[in-house]
Amino acid sequence: MKVYVPRDAAARALGADAVAAAVAAEAARRGADITLVRNGSRGMVWLEPLLEVDTPQGRIAFGPLTPADVPALFDTGFGAHPNALGPTEALDWMRRQTRLTFARVGVIDPLDLADYEAHGGLQGLRRALAMPPAAVVEEVTQSGLRGRGGAGFPAGIKWRTVAEAAADRKYIVCNADEGDSGTFADRMLMEGDPFTLIEGMAIAGLATGAARGLVYIRSEYPDAIEVMGRAVALARAAGVLGASVLGSGRAFDMEVRVGAGAYVCGEETALLDSLEGKRGVVRAKPPLPALHGFMGRPTVVNNVITLATVPVVLARGAEFYRDFGIGRSRGTIPLQLAGNIRQGGLFEAAFGLTLHEIIHGIGGGTATGRPVRAVQVGGPLGAYFPPALFDTPFGYEDYAAQDGLIGHAGIVVFDDTVDMLAQARFAMEFCAVESCGKCTPCRIGAVRGVETLDRIARGDPAATGLLQDLCATMKAGSLCALGGFTPYPVLSALRHFSEDFAPIREAAE
Ligand code: NAI
Ligand code: SF4
Repeated sequence: MKVYVPRDAAARALGADAVAAAVAAEAARRGADITLVRNGSRGMVWLEPLLEVDTPQGRIAFGPLTPADVPALFDTGFGAHPNALGPTEALDWMRRQTRLTFARVGVIDPLDLADYEAHGGLQGLRRALAMPPAAVVEEVTQSGLRGRGGAGFPAGIKWRTVAEAAADRKYIVCNADEGDSGTFADRMLMEGDPFTLIEGMAIAGLATGAARGLVYIRSEYPDAIEVMGRAVALARAAGVLGASVLGSGRAFDMEVRVGAGAYVCGEETALLDSLEGKRGVVRAKPPLPALHGFMGRPTVVNNVITLATVPVVLARGAEFYRDFGIGRSRGTIPLQLAGNIRQGGLFEAAFGLTLHEIIHGIGGGTATGRPVRAVQVGGPLGAYFPPALFDTPFGYEDYAAQDGLIGHAGIVVFDDTVDMLAQARFAMEFCAVESCGKCTPCRIGAVRGVETLDRIARGDPAATGLLQDLCATMKAGSLCALGGFTPYPVLSALRHFSEDFAPIREAAE
């Protein structure tokens, strides 16, 4: 019998290694014939460590477990245990998802290529190898897939720019410097289904004429670094990567590189500098990395989720993928629910869900049981939404219309005890700490922003106008999104929660 206990970092942080060790020890003690598989996480973090067993009726889930719960699992024959949850796929959280990019995460052994293929892996790459490169680019364009790192630029158009550029060498760079607060989709994908990312990068290489890829992973993700490194070696040994991809005679190989912990290195040009061994400082654009990227060569820089979605687009076709979603936001998006939420985790769904559905219907409201007051969508540079905007459909344009952004789809929930002036101050402070220092509006503006918010907190009536002017300057004058987008959380807090910005003045009135 196969028993699955996740090797995902979130599950491990909640005790999955101890549960796995207890399962192995108990099986040895009883002479039970089990195969222990360390899979990825299903994304139901509040149920981790979640153990599953294979049965003729499908996978059955148990969780959250401690090592002390394990003997009873064997006593009951993995049946009527107090932590039994029933068939995994029938759980509400699983049933309501559209798992395309994450279809195999939590299902397969992440480091078993045969298991990967048995669950549909390599179909996209095989189809891409049988197509002219331009047709692969066209397929990605037609799918409507947009950059999932945050900016939402059409992936096919970026690929076409690289494909049409003349150069002796080209590169595929995967941005796995997932730095947004409350986001973990890249990490979960790399830890739970690394071959999907490898397959997506190989397809990108074949489509654009790049023979080499690099995955830039943040150093704070040691598990993802290890799994990706082992998966690349396995893929190379199996001929998926190398001088002749799947025996096609066409080359693509890749390697894992590790960042050193700077938020700004998630910005693509700073990332490229870091990859080249320099200090990560933002470069002015143009020239675009698509024309002048890694080592001055045309480079596709895409986020993990963008590249990991390419195999399903190729395997099932552009039409299949673009059928999901709303407006110009096509396909699915892995929502990451975090902060003060009862059921936190990863939920992949077609674009279009409202925040109300996401927070209350899927997340079950706050963990504290208090009313939701604010939700920050899109990481530390994303806007705060009040409940009055919770009917906004999840899509790039819909959020932009509300002066927000979906970013990397991180959703952080706050209850009614949150101090929004303190949150605005945190945004400015974060920018001041993480600024690369290249441009003045960000380097100096963020420091002045913290000071100005402190003046507001002290009840200075002139400071609010100054903060708005400062935000306008940062938005218009910053070289990259760090300085340019910090005004989103600040101004949204000021606009929607203005009562938190005048505590002392009001008290004096
Ligand atoms: P951007 O709008 O400048 O560029 C988007 C992408 O399109 C870039 O790769 C750019 O090189 C490319 N591009 C633009 N025009 C092109 C053309 N004509 N041909 C080919 N490629 C072209 O946005 P940027 O600064 O790269 O990203 C900002 C976003 O990053 C924000 O929306 C923010 O949400 C997100 N972000 C994500 C984080 C994460 O952890 N995933 C962390 C921080 C920010
Ligand atoms: Fe550097 Fe900030 Fe300017 Fe970006 S906005 S280039 S992080 S100083």
